[in-house]
Amino acid sequence: MPAFRTVRGMRDFLPRDAERMRHVEQVSRELAQLYGYEEVITPVVESYDLLAAKAGEEIRKRMFAFEDLGGRKVALRPEFTASMARLMATKMRNEPKPIRLFSVGSLYRYDEPQYGRFREFWQADYELLGSTRPEADAEILMLTNDLLKKLGLRNYSFKIGHMEILRGILSQEGVGEEQQNRIMQLLDKKRWDEALTVVRSAGVSQNCVATLKKIFGTKGKEAFRVLKDAEESVMEYEKSVAAVKNLREILELTIKSGVELDVMIEAGFARGLEYYTGMVFEPYISEIEMALSGGGRYDKLVELFGGESIPAVGVAQGVDRIVLAMKKQRCPPKIAKEKKVLVIPVNEEYVAKAMELSSLLRSAELIVEVEVMARTVSKALSDADRRAAAYAVIIGPAELTEEKVVLRDMIKREQKIVEIKDLCKEILRRFM
Ligand code: HAM
Repeated sequence: MPAFRTVRGMRDFLPRDAERMRHVEQVSRELAQLYGYEEVITPVVESYDLLAAKAGEEIRKRMFAFEDLGGRKVALRPEFTASMARLMATKMRNEPKPIRLFSVGSLYRYDEPQYGRFREFWQADYELLGSTRPEADAEILMLTNDLLKKLGLRNYSFKIGHMEILRGILSQEGVGEEQQNRIMQLLDKKRWDEALTVVRSAGVSQNCVATLKKIFGTKGKEAFRVLKDAEESVMEYEKSVAAVKNLREILELTIKSGVELDVMIEAGFARGLEYYTGMVFEPYISEIEMALSGGGRYDKLVELFGGESIPAVGVAQGVDRIVLAMKKQRCPPKIAKEKKVLVIPVNEEYVAKAMELSSLLRSAELIVEVEVMARTVSKALSDADRRAAAYAVIIGPAELTEEKVVLRDMIKREQKIVEIKDLCKEILRRFM
C-alpha cells in the first residue's frame, strides 16, 4: 500500500493544534451560553438547493456537491446560515421570538488552499432571529468583540457597511436582482472597475455611476463623519439614506453600550453571500489580510425557505483564522496540562492498584495517565517530564502495606510518602 496523505486542502490536527481549535470552540460555546444562544446540531450533508439558494456565485461553484446513492442532489454545507434558516422555517417556526441559536462545526468549500483558506474549516455560528431592531445588530457586534477579547486578541478592527446602501441605489435605478448579485460578487472581490462596467451595461443614469464611484471611496475610521458623507452622496436614493441611518443607529447604540469598537466604515462594502439585506461586517487584525469572521443582517431568508417573515442577524466566527491570529499575536493557548498526574506501579504486581488509584484521582477531576509500558520507575519518570506531568504517584510494596504511596513533585524534584486516603486532598491542595 502507498503511504497515504490527507486529501489536498484537508488537514490533520495534531494534539497541540487540535487543542487550540477546541479551545476557541469552547470559549465560543461558553459565550453563547452567556448571551442565551442555544446550541443546535444540523447535518453536514444538506440538500444542494437549500445551500445554493442564496449562497452567492462564489460559494455556489465551490460547493462539494454530489448525488447520493438515492439520486438526491446534496452537498457538504459551506456555511451554517442556510441550515439555521431551514430550522426556523420548519421545526422551530412556532417557537416564541426572539430565538438565539448557536452551532459549531466543520464546513466545506472547494477553495484554493493557502494560508487561512482551507477546504475544510470550522465556524462558531450565532444567529439572532425575530428582531429588526438595531439592538439585535448591536448584540452581534458586541458578542463578536467579546469573543475576540476573551481569546486574548488585540488591535482588531471591524470593517462595517450596509448592503442597502448599494442595493438601494441599484434598485431605484431599475437594476434587476440577478445583476445586483453579480455586482456584489465583484465588489466583494474589490473588482470595482468590472462592477462599474456591469452597472453601466444595465442602462443606469450618469448620476448613478457617479454616486457609486463616490460611495466606493467613502470610508474611514471616523465613523460618524464617514456616515455623514455617505448620506450626502446618496441623498437622491431613499432606501440608501435609510440604510445609512440604520447603520448610524446601530453604531450609536453599540458605543453607548460601552463597547469600545475600533471601526472602519466602508459605505461600498459588499459581502458575497446573497441573503444580506442590512448591516454587514468583518473583523480584521493587521497581521492577517483575511477576515477573522463575517456576519450581517438577512431579513428575507427564512421566508424564502417557506417560513413566515422572520428578520435575522448573525455572525460566523472563523475558528481556523482566529487560531492563526492568536498564534500571530502570541496569545497563550489554554493551559490544559497543569493538573496532570502520572501513576506508576513499580512492577506488574501493582498495576491493578495503579489503575484503582487512577480512578480515585480522576474522580477528583485530576488528569491522570497510568504507566502502561511496564517501564522501570526511573524510565517512566524521565518520560513524565516530556508529558508535562506535575506529579507522579509511585506505587510499590513497602508503602502499600501501610496504605501509602510515594508522591513526587516533578517540578521541584522532591518526594514524600502520603497516605492513600489523603492523596487526592494533598494533590489538589498543591494545585491550588
Ligand atoms: P463567510 O464570510 O463566508 O460568512 O464566512 C465566515 C468566516 O468563516 C470567514 O470570515 C472565515 O473566517 C471563515 N472561512 C470562510 N471560508 C473559509 C475557508 N475556506 N477557510 C478558512 N476559513 C474560512 C458566512 O459563512 C456566513 N454564514 C456568516 C453569517 C452568519 N452571516 C449571518 N450569519
